[in-house]
Amino acid sequence: MSVNFREYKIGARMFGLALGGSMLITLLLPSFDIAASVSTDVALDKQLSAGWDSGWQLGDPLLKGHNKPVKVLVKNDPLTGVALAQAETVYVYPAGTSLPNGVTHSDNLGAGVKDLSLEKGKIKDAKKESGAVFLINHGAFNGNNLPYVENATATKGWTPDAVMAKADDANVSHVGSGKTMFVREGCWWCHTLLPEQTQDWQAFGTPPMLGDFNGESPTAFGSDRKAPDLLHVGSRNSSKEWMMLHFFNPRLVQPHSIMPRFDYLWGEVDANGKKIDFDKWRAEYNEYHEGKRVAAPEVPMYAKDSEIRGLIDFVLSLK
Ligand code: HEC
Repeated sequence: MSVNFREYKIGARMFGLALGGSMLITLLLPSFDIAASVSTDVALDKQLSAGWDSGWQLGDPLLKGHNKPVKVLVKNDPLTGVALAQAETVYVYPAGTSLPNGVTHSDNLGAGVKDLSLEKGKIKDAKKESGAVFLINHGAFNGNNLPYVENATATKGWTPDAVMAKADDANVSHVGSGKTMFVREGCWWCHTLLPEQTQDWQAFGTPPMLGDFNGESPTAFGSDRKAPDLLHVGSRNSSKEWMMLHFFNPRLVQPHSIMPRFDYLWGEVDANGKKIDFDKWRAEYNEYHEGKRVAAPEVPMYAKDSEIRGLIDFVLSLK
């Protein structure tokens, strides 16, 4: 009996050691990696576009694309209306929107980018309750020119309301909610966003660097390849019209595509508020497919607030 009990105690200690050791590795090692890699312009653009909530947080548990920032091209100063010397891309977080990872956990921005974002960019002044407008600026740190996050609400007085009041819808991009669609719809079953260093980068663009993924949330690395990598798809195809046709039914533009159709992301109505008759569309498409009709039926223009709008904005942002 006593021998058995001693063995039990040894076993329990070994188990404790293994558990403690693995917790140490789990908790400490990733933070070393994150701090060691410095955010690039690409990483800052991605995390500011995507915001924070993505289903694992409570802001958007059903992955509807809610609680997300929008990316806006600003051509005139939102306060004075005077044309800017150069159009500025800003990331608008309306009041109540969760702030991005690098703003709430500035260590994740990496050395230098963090210091500039805190000192020059005043990111700690950003508050979720009142919302904020961010942009990417550049500055010198220890002799290096680094990108940093600037809280334009603190530095220029650009509030979310002021920017949105002047924004032309054509210059507003719902990249963040589109990324939620990408995750929810399982695009990653077939597509990667990360070309491995295989031959395909020669056709599809240069491979990303480690720092390109700093603070990105959620990450969407594909593990398997059934379809082209999408990391730079917006550079090789920037046509909104092509994307519309392809998402409504990929066979409209790629006759043998295995990609499923995502027509349901249009929702109930088109851009004019007219109910979309999916049954009629599919019946006509089948006739076209069987050669009983000369042209395919027209794909309806999507509504401004539809899920497909976000998804297309996201895909076209992948440059
Ligand atoms: C079953 C696998 C599969 C799924 C799921 C899938 N795709 Fe595809 N996708 C493909 C294949 C195969 C191609 C290449 C043929 C074509 O263009 O349809 C493609 C092509 C594309 C292209 C054009 C790529 C290029 O190089 O020009 C885009 C953009 C795209 N898919 C986006 C998406 C998005 C966004 C989703 C999720 C809403 C998605 N796909 C889901 C298989 C898939």
